Amino acid sequence: MLIVTGATGRLGALIVERLLERVPAGRIGVSVRDVRKAAEFAERGVRVRVGDFTEPDSLKHAFEDAERVLVVSAAIRGGAALAANSAAIDSAREAGAQRILYTSHQAASPTSLFPPQQVHAATEEHLKRQGVPYTALRNGFYASTLSPYVSAALETGTLAVPQDGPVSWTAHEDLAEAAAVALTEDGTLEGITPPLTAPHTLNFADVADELSRITGRTITRVVMDDEEWISAAVAGGMPRPAAEFSLTMFAASRNGEFNTIDPTLGATIGHPTQTVHQALEAVERSR
Ligand SMILES: NC(=O)c1ccc[n+]([C@@H]2O[C@H](COP(=O)([O-])OP(=O)(O)OC[C@H]3O[C@@H](n4cnc5c(N)ncnc54)[C@H](OP(=O)(O)O)[C@@H]3O)[C@@H](O)[C@H]2O)c1
Repeated sequence: MLIVTGATGRLGALIVERLLERVPAGRIGVSVRDVRKAAEFAERGVRVRVGDFTEPDSLKHAFEDAERVLVVSAAIRGGAALAANSAAIDSAREAGAQRILYTSHQAASPTSLFPPQQVHAATEEHLKRQGVPYTALRNGFYASTLSPYVSAALETGTLAVPQDGPVSWTAHEDLAEAAAVALTEDGTLEGITPPLTAPHTLNFADVADELSRITGRTITRVVMDDEEWISAAVAGGMPRPAAEFSLTMFAASRNGEFNTIDPTLGATIGHPTQTVHQALEAVERSR
């Protein structure tokens, strides 16, 4: 069976949808924390089992009969994320998976200023040590990350965030399709992949310009001092640790960590990848 974890999350659910177009539902199994949230997949013939990376015993049952396992990195912050993702990888090997796939990040690096990249780099190292064929999908930075910043800018007319740098903002839909290809087609995306990115990089000034074009209103990019931005975010209701975490994304982007584009994603899915313009239009439409 082809097992996908995190199938009740945004990326995992899209991956299962793309898999259902490629293989019979009976070949697909999902490992989820809450089976009720995956009821629709069960109705369509997908095997749904409980699996929590922090309770590895649950993964034995969830990964039973695994031919390949795609570990969608768990939405956990800090060192616990490495332990959780590693436990899932270990369980996939113990279940006999002949290929283990993992959703890494385009800028995975032990020296990144953005802590999740350090976790991804360490998880990739763990994956390499298993002695099992593997794929680390170096997913581009989600374009959806822009949503809260864009929503605020559309409210106020000002995109006021710290100094940033160019990012190849990439759509979940394209990344999910590439993951489904990697799970089902031999010889594609083996080992650590090139960065799987959209074809352009944009910084927040570019985003403000795009938004101005889309809405016909002037959206002005304002560069805020880091500490001022944290204070403003906390005053606006964001918990301080979340604000400090978000600041590390700006620090990494202005360090050039996400200033990479690569044609592999488009080549893998066989059609042009979504542009940030499309992602921003979607944010504007959803308001
Ligand atoms: N490339 C990027 O720019 C980027 C940005 C942000 C995050 N990420 C990573 O990409 C992953 C998938 O993205 P997404 O958009 O699908 O996020 P998402 O919608 O938040 O989904 C996260 C998934 O992690 C699962 N999860 C959380 N704790 C878990 C645990 N203890 N054991 C097993 N699964 C657990 C969640 O399960 P439930 O459905 O039960 O909650 C959910 O399915 C994220 O988890 C994160 O690691 C990448």
